[in-house]
Amino acid sequence: MFTIRNIGQLVLPTAVSPPMLNDAVVTVVDQAYVTMDGGAIRSFGSDAEYEGAPGVEVIDAQGNCVIPGLIDCHTHTVFAGSREDDFVKRIQGTSYAQIAEQGGGIKTTVKAVREAGIDELVALALPRLNRMLANGVTTVEIKSGYGLSVEDEIKMLQAVKKLRDVQPIELVATYLGAHTVPHEYTGRREAYIDLVCSDELMGRVAREGLAEFCDVFTEKTAFTVEESRRILLKAKEFGLTPKMHADQITQIGASRLAAEVGAVSADHLETIDDGGIAAMKDAGVVAVLLPGCSFFLGVDQAPARRIMDAGLPVALATDYNPGSAMVESLPLVMSMACTQMHMTPAEALVATTANAAAAINRQDRIGTIKEGMQADLVILDVDNYNELPYHTGRNCVRTVIKRGRIVRNRD
Ligand code: NIG
Ligand code: FE
Repeated sequence: MFTIRNIGQLVLPTAVSPPMLNDAVVTVVDQAYVTMDGGAIRSFGSDAEYEGAPGVEVIDAQGNCVIPGLIDCHTHTVFAGSREDDFVKRIQGTSYAQIAEQGGGIKTTVKAVREAGIDELVALALPRLNRMLANGVTTVEIKSGYGLSVEDEIKMLQAVKKLRDVQPIELVATYLGAHTVPHEYTGRREAYIDLVCSDELMGRVAREGLAEFCDVFTEKTAFTVEESRRILLKAKEFGLTPKMHADQITQIGASRLAAEVGAVSADHLETIDDGGIAAMKDAGVVAVLLPGCSFFLGVDQAPARRIMDAGLPVALATDYNPGSAMVESLPLVMSMACTQMHMTPAEALVATTANAAAAINRQDRIGTIKEGMQADLVILDVDNYNELPYHTGRNCVRTVIKRGRIVRNRD
């Protein structure tokens, strides 16, 4: 059991699905304490009213701000190889979609992942996760999708499983067999979709608990709406919860499909239209926006204000991957959301805590500070939460606590 005292600002994101996001979605307790026991939050309140018990360890927050552990609810953190060639090509005028059409892009990473052993994938991902932890991230969703064969998709998901044992971040696995059609299935896409949906692959992923979500990249260069529907309905039969890469580059009706199949989230949404927004709202789908991706690709951001003003719950994530978002820092993504998408710091904080928890079905356990919730907390070196995105690209994280245990201390 231990307590953090002398917290200048204890920040409680309050709303998972507010009718409209605004600064009121964050409640603040000034001059506060918070006590943890057995990995959960036991109590919090005004520091002046704190009643200590003998033997309780006390940490001094030095008047600084404490927030819930940040949640990165959309990443591709397990990968091998590098795509800086794509980066340079884009700077010289070739678009992300053109690179994919020329046989590069995702397929380059697939080749590297297929050549890597599981231990190599783990060794490559570990320092990435450690840097994410240093940025205050205590939960990360990771997708497969660079294997695209039974053996290599399972290898990626087993790497996620192994990573759980060697570092403190809680990892949430998503099966993304439908990321693109691999080269050996050129001209035989139906056969590849059969494999994605097969008992041998999708069934095994579900049975062995290797993933809890199934994602599809619904896009002109990847899978059509009809193909995506088939994959996601099959995933539901196997007990996997649908997620989608939707409306990123072209508008082909992906966000409407997310609503139709009851996806927990639809992610990207740079080209979402009003019909897609309305459908997602009716179905209660969380909108996960990825400003680091648009920033990295040098394209327009998703219409965050339009989505929020329509009443959708919005989450933010890095989309960390070697092709479209070589961006590890979730606080940097929050800064981008504030400066490029007109989200307030309070909205960005809810989007990386309570709403990000909802995007991975964990809103009852993580994402806010409440008695009984998991004790995932971050002590910043600044005294109010507006400063976190304000310090663009500077790490303001001092101490990270996961399940009531200090897992990172900068000082
Ligand atoms: O979320 N859009 C599809 N998938 C990833 C990119 C993966 C890659 O380019 O390697 C994304 O942007
Ligand atoms: Fe992605």
